[in-house]
Amino acid sequence: MNIPKTSIHGEWSSRLAFILAATGSAVGLGNIWKFPYITGEYGGGAFVIVYLLCIALIGFPVMMAEVLLGKRGRSSPINSMRHLAQEARRSQWWQVLGWSGVVAGFLILSFYSVIAGWALDYIPRLAQGTFTAVNDLNTTKEVTDFVATRFGELVGDPLRLIMWHTLFLVITIIMVAGGVQGGLERAVRWMMPALFLVLLILLGYAMSTPQFMEGVQFMFNVDFHKLFYPKGEFSGEGVLAAMGLAFFSLSLGMGSIMVYGAYLPKHASIAQTTAAVVAADTLVAILAGLIIFPIVFSNGLSPEDGGPGLVFKILPIAFGQMPYGTLFGTLFFVLLALAAWSSAISLIEPAVAWLVETGKFSRISATIGCGIAAWLVGFATVFSFNIWSDVKPLSMFSAFQDKTFFNLIDYLTSNIMLPLGGLFIAIFVAWLMKNQIVTEELEISSKNLGYRFWRFLLRYVTPLGVGLVFLNAIGVFS
Ligand code: TRP
Repeated sequence: MNIPKTSIHGEWSSRLAFILAATGSAVGLGNIWKFPYITGEYGGGAFVIVYLLCIALIGFPVMMAEVLLGKRGRSSPINSMRHLAQEARRSQWWQVLGWSGVVAGFLILSFYSVIAGWALDYIPRLAQGTFTAVNDLNTTKEVTDFVATRFGELVGDPLRLIMWHTLFLVITIIMVAGGVQGGLERAVRWMMPALFLVLLILLGYAMSTPQFMEGVQFMFNVDFHKLFYPKGEFSGEGVLAAMGLAFFSLSLGMGSIMVYGAYLPKHASIAQTTAAVVAADTLVAILAGLIIFPIVFSNGLSPEDGGPGLVFKILPIAFGQMPYGTLFGTLFFVLLALAAWSSAISLIEPAVAWLVETGKFSRISATIGCGIAAWLVGFATVFSFNIWSDVKPLSMFSAFQDKTFFNLIDYLTSNIMLPLGGLFIAIFVAWLMKNQIVTEELEISSKNLGYRFWRFLLRYVTPLGVGLVFLNAIGVFS
């Protein structure tokens, strides 16, 4: 057996450092940008419940399994799966799990970087006090139009988008090239607490709007009709979207968490660290929702209509109106960009680690190569918001009729590749790896109840859950 004992890429300096890095990976645009607008699109409450169920019953156990694979394999996801398939005497095809993760990582990073670019663009705007102009307007309609127009100016301008997309990736490359401790770890230490603080300040503002309870109701008032019949007709799409979002938000199913697990010090508890990461990630998403929806309602808007621009069209209103809004607004978008960076680095780390392990590339050249690839693919997303906004590549299929390149890349990765990745991770760990190896990595007895429950979730609940949600989405049960 030739599994390395330690990763050649280095290790986290402590368990806490791993928690910070994994939380940095998990908390990002998924929580603050994606969660609110998709929750809005699918009508609130019921969607949130399904999302939380997916986090608890599928996301949490799969994250433990993914960390475990990394910790045992000690390499990039491709090589970890190769080692582990050998150890378990299973087919070498299991490496495909690593490969599909690398592909998913590029695809996700390609649009992630463009959206993070929006956050970058908002930093100077907020700092200049652009949005304090809303105080001179008379009606909420004028206010929402003003903010929406500013957003439109940005996404309508391909060159401006490309500039920010490029800047975002260049800095990502610099961070990743710095290596595990030097680059990744240093960045996340102070950002997460700071982001949390600014969110609390925003929550205070949201609570001061008379519509706060309306926002809370929207998020927690469970109405399954809205989820299953978004446009009058039955659709399983909402449940699939909730599951996909759970995977996306937890960074699961493509190797980010696996490769971070490979850098875990030997005796770190997988269950506890995972619990901390999942809790932090969920908390930030819920907070984001509790901030956004009251502001949506207090401006007479409807959560369904926001789309991907939702937070960029809503939060500036709050910053424009609140005391010290220029300061907090600037700080917020700085922190959002930082949160996006700490996620982006985990999206290319699997590919970079693999290239370095081939022995043909230095960490620096591998990172630059991967960054350029993601940069090029990103143009499809840039143009999806302007010159190609009418291009619907798969319009011949009714399900994809109105999906732009950006929509398709997002759909393919979040709703298909990540859940499939998670499914195979669950199957490998719970059905194919030796029990003894699994319990050894978890440092737990195989009789432990928690362990048995975890294994049950992985063996039955994850495969059935993912399977049923897929079948439901293609309309088998309607
Ligand atoms: N989870 C991050 C977010 O919520 C994005 C992310 C990082 C990701 N690594 C990932 C998503 C791996 C899916 C898979 O913004």
